[in-house]
Amino acid sequence: MNDKQETYDEVFSRIKGLIGEEDILDWVGIMATVACELHTAFSYYHWTGFYRVVQDDVLLVGPYQGSHGCLSIPFSRGVCGAAARTRSTQLVRDVNAIEDHIACSSTTQSEIVVPIITPEDRLIAVLDVDSDDLAAFDAVDQQYLEALCKKLGQLYASRHPSSDPVMP
Ligand code: SME
Repeated sequence: MNDKQETYDEVFSRIKGLIGEEDILDWVGIMATVACELHTAFSYYHWTGFYRVVQDDVLLVGPYQGSHGCLSIPFSRGVCGAAARTRSTQLVRDVNAIEDHIACSSTTQSEIVVPIITPEDRLIAVLDVDSDDLAAFDAVDQQYLEALCKKLGQLYASRHPSSDPVMP
């Protein structure tokens, strides 16, 4: 196991401990906690946060860490929109090679965006991580962040029947 994997394991254990003790599952608090713990654990994480599916084909910013993030992203635009549209992880080694990349910060060089989908196949959000380092993210980041987002989708579904309105 390498240092990155060990750090992910430690972060996930902390997140589980923080969230698991709560009787009331508040999604804003969960997203804020996840963004905070991830962002502070990895030096190459320069923007870490969520975009929520609040209405059809639009993502709205959720809790995040880092410089300001754009407030809304249509599914038709950006790396986040591509993750939402295709319901698949976008692992971008060089954002300058992506024509419709949305640069919330001019210093961003690489990015990973992972969709959060419930067991009922409902897209509820995407987790977006930006780095000022080129090719900062690799298969280990993708593996761990996809596992985290799968858990978040399961947790959301366990508290929000599919008849509920979209994520707060
Ligand atoms: N880079 C993202 C936009 C979100 S800001 O980076 C926080 C995109 O291209 O969708």
